[in-house]
Amino acid sequence: HGAHRILVASNRGPVTYEVREDGSLHARRGGGGLVSGLSAIGPDAGALWVCSALGDGDREAVRRGVHEDGVRMLAIDADTHADAYNGIANSVLWFVHHMLYHTPLEPVFDAEFRRRWEAYRTYNRAFAEALAEEAADGAAVLVQDYHLCLVPGMLRELRPDLRIGHFSHTPWAPEDYFRMLPDDIRAELMAGMLGADRVAFLTWRWATAFMRCAEGAEPGRYSATRPSGTSPTIEHLDGARPPVRETRVGVHGLGADAEFLRERSHRADVGERMAALREEIGAGRRTIVRVDRTELSKNIVRGLLAYRQLLDDHPEWRERVVHVAFAYPSRQDLAVYRDYTAEVQRLADEINSRYGTPDWTPVVLHVKDDFARSLAAYRLADVALVNPIRDGMNLVAKEVPVVSDEGCALVLSREAGAYEELGEDAITVNPYDVTGTARALHEALTMQPGERAERTKRLAAAATALPPAQWFLDQLRELES
Ligand code: G6P
Repeated sequence: HGAHRILVASNRGPVTYEVREDGSLHARRGGGGLVSGLSAIGPDAGALWVCSALGDGDREAVRRGVHEDGVRMLAIDADTHADAYNGIANSVLWFVHHMLYHTPLEPVFDAEFRRRWEAYRTYNRAFAEALAEEAADGAAVLVQDYHLCLVPGMLRELRPDLRIGHFSHTPWAPEDYFRMLPDDIRAELMAGMLGADRVAFLTWRWATAFMRCAEGAEPGRYSATRPSGTSPTIEHLDGARPPVRETRVGVHGLGADAEFLRERSHRADVGERMAALREEIGAGRRTIVRVDRTELSKNIVRGLLAYRQLLDDHPEWRERVVHVAFAYPSRQDLAVYRDYTAEVQRLADEINSRYGTPDWTPVVLHVKDDFARSLAAYRLADVALVNPIRDGMNLVAKEVPVVSDEGCALVLSREAGAYEELGEDAITVNPYDVTGTARALHEALTMQPGERAERTKRLAAAATALPPAQWFLDQLRELES
C-alpha cells in the first residue's frame, strides 16, 4: 500500500506543463475550488492529487519524470483519453446531465459508442489502479465528476479498506431523461458511483435526481431512504434484506472564495484592465457583463438574442449600454463546441453591424481567457447575466457580488444550482425565454442604485457562506465519520 492519507482524483489537475522553445518545461498552476480546498489541509497532510496528463507538455513531463509535490499525472494513451474525455464524458454524460440533447442533436448508442465506452472504462481503471497503489491503509479518496463515475466501484474492488467519496460538480439528470442511456450502461454507471461510501452534489436538486436514477437503474437493487434528521442513504439490497451495504448521499454548496477574490481583484493588473475596458465601453454607458466558458449549457446565444431584443424593445438603451461578453473557448476538439463558438461570434458581429454606430459598439466580445480582465469586468458591471440552461452551481453568479465596486444587479437562471442560494435577491429568468430575459435585463438596468447595493450585499453574504476550504474539509470530515 501507498503512503497517502488523503487522495483526490479528477481529470483536470492543478498544474499544466508547456514545452518552451529551448526544450525546457514550464509549469502553470490553475485555480478553482479544489485547489483552494486542498490548500486548507496544508502541504504536510500528505495529500495526493491524481489527474490526467492533458496535452503534449503534460505528457512530456510524465516522460521526463517531472512532477510537482503531491501531484501524480497519468499519461493515459492519447486515443483512449480522447475517446473517454471527449467521446463519452464531455459528449454523452455532460449532455445528459445538462439536458442538451434535443432533436436533431440526439445520441446514437451504436458500435462506435460501445468502442468509446470501452475507452472510458480503461481510463477509469487507470485512475483506480493509481489510487489503489498510492493510498495508505484506510485513506480517504475524493473522486471528482462525471469523467470518473466508474472509479469508486473499481477502487472498492481493489482496496475495500479505503473510504471513498464521489463529488459531482454538474447537475444530475432527471430520471426520465437519464433513461435515454442504454440500460446496461446506466446499471454500470450506478454500480460505479455507488462503489463509494458517500456521493455528494452541489444542491439537493441534483442529489434527489441521482437517488431516483439509482432506484430506477436496476429494479430491486437499490433503495433510497430519507430518514428524517439524518442524511439520506442508498441501500444496496441485491435482492436481500437487510441491505448488504449503504452509500450515504450529501450536499455541499461550494461558495466563492471571498478573501482570495477581494485581494486578487485589487491588484494593479486588474486596475489596468478596468481602464482598458472603460475605454472600450465609452463614458457614461451601462454595462451588462457575462463571463463563461463557451459551452452550450451556458446559453450564450440566447443571452445575445435577449440583448438584441432589449435594443429593439427599448431603443432608449441604444448608445447607452454595452454588453461585455467574455466567452472563453472550451473543449474545441468537439465539433458541437466549435460550431457553438462560431455561432456566438457570428451573432455578436451581426448585432454590432446592425445597431453599432461609429462611436458605439453594442457587444464587446473577448475570447482570450484572462482572469484579471474577468475580475475587472466583475468590478465595473452594472448587470451580470448568468443564464445557463442548466448548471451544477455557477460560480460567476457568486463571484460578481463579492468583487463588485458599486453593486451589480444579477440576472440569474432558475436552472443554475446557485439559484437556490441567490434566487431571492437576483432577477430570475427561464433560460429558454429570450423575451423574458430581455425584460429582466431592462429591469436590472433600471434598478435603483440603493436597492442594487443592498441586494449585492445580501448576494455576497449568501455567495460566500461555504468557502472552498470549508467545502473541502466538510467532505473529508463526513467521509471519515
Ligand atoms: C466543469 C466540470 C469540471 C471541468 C470544467 C472545465 O466545471 O465540472 O470537471 O474541469 O467544467 O472543463 P474542461 O473540460 O476544460 O476540464
